[in-house]
Amino acid sequence: MSKWFYFNFFLFILALWQVVTHYSFPCLSMPVLFGLIGFLFFLFNWTRNAVFSTIRNAPSRNMKMKLANLSKKVMPFHRWTGTCALLFILVHVSLIFQWYGFSFQNPKMIAGLLAFINLILMVATGWLRLVRPTGKLRKIHLRLGISLFLLIALHLLL
Ligand code: HEM
Repeated sequence: MSKWFYFNFFLFILALWQVVTHYSFPCLSMPVLFGLIGFLFFLFNWTRNAVFSTIRNAPSRNMKMKLANLSKKVMPFHRWTGTCALLFILVHVSLIFQWYGFSFQNPKMIAGLLAFINLILMVATGWLRLVRPTGKLRKIHLRLGISLFLLIALHLLL
């Protein structure tokens, strides 16, 4: 199994932990609710990376076929789930701005802003690959995914 499954699981637990220990829990505040839903859409898409990584390293052909078929079924929705993540995070950010405003002194907001810009680029390169399916764009899309993972982890930790 790819190490990304463990990393993703860790990020999932971290997000859940931050949400259940939030002062508004169990009546989640709207910014947190939208942040969580957007995060879950992102994580669902990013788990495909873990599946691909497992396919590359799978010892048996049978296992490779099973995982590849599963990934193929989810593929038609990949761009749309990514776009949904962006839309939910857009609402999360608007609500945060309305409730708290924005401050460059707040590290959580800086990490969030960088993650948001990264997410926009991630979704944009995802759609661009539909018109220009080049290897270079695939690599950029993948690297954006890794940096987005790290920025979201930072945003949640701060
Ligand atoms: C990809 C982008 C983003 C994701 C996935 C995301 C996700 C989340 C999640 C799941 C939470 C709830 C858990 C926690 O409190 O740590 C949260 C909280 C928060 N986010 Fe984001 N966020 C993103 C972008 C942003 C941006 C751009 C800002 C502001 C500039 C921001 C500001 C905040 C703040 C201030 C909180 C705490 C809210 C509170 O305590 O009431 N986030 N975010």
